[in-house]
Amino acid sequence: MVKVAPSILSASFNTLALEIDKVIKAGADLIHLDIMDGIFVPNITFGPLIYKDIPKYDGVEFDAHLMVIQPENNIQSFLDSGVDRISVHVEATVHLQRMLQLIRHHHIKPAVALNPATPLSTLEWVLEDLDMVLIMSVNPGFGGQSFIKGMLKKIELLKEMILKKGLSVEIEVDGGVCPENIRDVVNAGTDIVVAGSAIFGKPDYAEAIQALKHY
Ligand code: DX5
Ligand code: ZN
Repeated sequence: MVKVAPSILSASFNTLALEIDKVIKAGADLIHLDIMDGIFVPNITFGPLIYKDIPKYDGVEFDAHLMVIQPENNIQSFLDSGVDRISVHVEATVHLQRMLQLIRHHHIKPAVALNPATPLSTLEWVLEDLDMVLIMSVNPGFGGQSFIKGMLKKIELLKEMILKKGLSVEIEVDGGVCPENIRDVVNAGTDIVVAGSAIFGKPDYAEAIQALKHY
C-alpha cells in the first residue's frame, strides 16, 4: 500500500506539535518537513531548530525536503537534527554525490529531489547511492498547487530505470496529490505520496489519509 507523508507546510504552526500528533494518530507513515531558504524557492519556512522541539514517534519517519541552495553550507545542522531521511535538490548543489555520502555516513536515508523540468538523466550516476528519489509534481515553494500531469510519465520512466538496475530505491511524489489523482500517481510507480492541503485542509485527517490509501 502507498505510504502517506503529510507535509506540515499546510498545518497550523500555532499548534504544530498537536497537528503532528493528530496526523500520526490518523495513520501518517512519515512526516514531511519542507525546508525553504527563500533563494532556491520563493518562500521561507523553518529550519532544524523547529524540528528539534517536535516529539518523535516510533515507526514514523521524519522526511526532510531541503529546498535550499548549496545545502553543503548548513547540512551539518540537519545531520545532527535526528531526521530519518534527507532529500537534496539536484539543481541546488554541484557536489551531489558528496552530499549523499555524507548523509549515508550519518545513518540517514539519502534522497535526491528533482524539479519538474529536471531530467531523470541527472540521476544516472547516483541512483545506486540513493534510498529514495523525490519527484516534484509542482514547482516547489508553496502548498496547494495543482499536480502537473506530465509528471506521471516521468514517474513511470523512473520506475523502469530503478527496476532495470535491480535497485530498491523508493519513489516519493510531492505536490498536488489528492484523491482525484492518487490512482494514477500510484499506478505510475509511486511508493510514497506527500500531501499537504489534501490532509491539513480537511476536517478529518484519518478520513483524508484513508482516501489516499484506499483509492
Ligand atoms: C512544495 C512542497 C510540498 C507541498 C505539498 O514546495 O515541497 O511538500 O507543500 O503540498 P500540497 O500537497 O498542498 O501540494
Ligand atoms: Zn516537499
